[in-house]
Amino acid sequence: MQITAIAQSGSTSDADTIAIGIFDGEGAPPDSPAQVSELLASGEARSSFKSLALTHADGRRWLLVGLGAQDELSAERARVLASVAGARAREISTRTLCWVLPTGAAMPSGPHEIAAALVEGTILSDYSFDTHKSAPAGEDDGADGPPKHLKRLIVSGPDGIEAAVTQAAVVADAVNRARDLQNRPGNDLTPTALGEYAKALERDLDGVSVQVEGRDGLVARGMGAFAAVAQGSEEEPALITITYEGNQAPPTPSGPVLGFVGKAVTFDSGGISLKPGAKMAEMKFDMSGGAAVIEAVSAIARLRLPIRLVAVVGATENLPSGRAIKPGDIVTAANGKTIEVNNTDAEGRLVLADCLWHAVGEGAERIVDLATLTGAVIIALGSTYAGLMSNDDEWAGRITAAGERSGEIAWRLPLHEEYDELIKGTYGDLDNAPEGRKAGTIVGGAFLSNFVGDTPWAHLDIAGSAWELDRAYVGKGASGYGVRLLVELARSYAA
Ligand code: BES
Ligand code: MN
Ligand code: ZN
Repeated sequence: MQITAIAQSGSTSDADTIAIGIFDGEGAPPDSPAQVSELLASGEARSSFKSLALTHADGRRWLLVGLGAQDELSAERARVLASVAGARAREISTRTLCWVLPTGAAMPSGPHEIAAALVEGTILSDYSFDTHKSAPAGEDDGADGPPKHLKRLIVSGPDGIEAAVTQAAVVADAVNRARDLQNRPGNDLTPTALGEYAKALERDLDGVSVQVEGRDGLVARGMGAFAAVAQGSEEEPALITITYEGNQAPPTPSGPVLGFVGKAVTFDSGGISLKPGAKMAEMKFDMSGGAAVIEAVSAIARLRLPIRLVAVVGATENLPSGRAIKPGDIVTAANGKTIEVNNTDAEGRLVLADCLWHAVGEGAERIVDLATLTGAVIIALGSTYAGLMSNDDEWAGRITAAGERSGEIAWRLPLHEEYDELIKGTYGDLDNAPEGRKAGTIVGGAFLSNFVGDTPWAHLDIAGSAWELDRAYVGKGASGYGVRLLVELARSYAA
């Protein structure tokens, strides 16, 4: 979708549909045609949040969108409104949609934020994944039904919103690419394929370099935990290390070297501790953390943010075989700690253990990892918040704030020495999966905390939000969760 901002009124654009918002207790916005006021007066159009009504004037469609109360129009509400308006616009075969930016003194968010949110909501809700359908719907189907996608979005608003609009498009496109990666099935997106995908970023983006290592690399680096997960599969694992140095032009980066770490289990069967069959197919999404990390880096590089970053993505399958790791096996992680693998389905923490330590070794000074680590986080927080665990209050606060600004919100869960007792091994230093069902998500976080030394670190358990997020603008499929949060986090050091 092509995205532009204009400072003139929407009616001067060549859009075939104009979306115009109506606040509670207010009439039609200035310079809307008489038909808009008439539709409001008739009661067919309403100001209640998400209500939609359509009229024709000046040879085009005017979509009246209920905005609700002015003092409640947050960026998140704007994303939702953009998605409902976008859906209706597609139904009526819109090719070019123009959003007239709502303005009002009582709005809790500024025009830049609302403009960015409208762009995000429109692009995210326009997403579909159909590359594996034999008759792809194509850009211009139209034969039986409306076109599947909008061609252009114009945001008409005050001078100076262009940058926010273009940047939001860069980020939203990155989210959709992360969703593409998530949606690709395990037989297509193998660890090797993900490694090749990451490698291609190096060619396309300034300041980015990418290194991909396979099984031999893991063994040579002493990554016994990651290698143990990979040993059951015929597919080569991929340790993907990406660095970004945003210093092509001033300002030169000054903040700490950020470390983004992602779990990318391209298919998690559970291994010898095999999962039940129901919903096992969803475990192609177990690479969602890695997808978010890769696309966040790509967005940050496209935005040329003046920061320094090292990203580590651990990609492997988790499968049972005659070579697979068995319950009770003891492995040694790269930092020298030994781990009793009492459940081969707690594989994410094994992969991340070595990836986190690697990020420390590569110079990361603040680390955040994203992983679909535990089913328990879905019980604790549902899909509303990702679970956040951290060894550093300042860093945790920054991540929480980036979550609030991006709409990808996270809720902090505690770490405590009593949880550390739960993961003490009987025969080795650590137990990857203690008996009992106590604090499953925190136990995962407590385990990971052993592999970062003293580095400020935070863990985001995104098992409840990577898919089935069920927000209006992403629906039930892959959500790309984490891309927007990570970009916001990077931005907090780029100011
Ligand atoms: N990838 C799963 C976690 C998961 C489960 C994500 C369901 C999304 C939906 C992870 O590897 C896993 O299997 N975790 C186990 C840990 C347990 C064995 C300690 C879990 O959550 O059951
Ligand atoms: Mn598992
Ligand atoms: Zn997993």
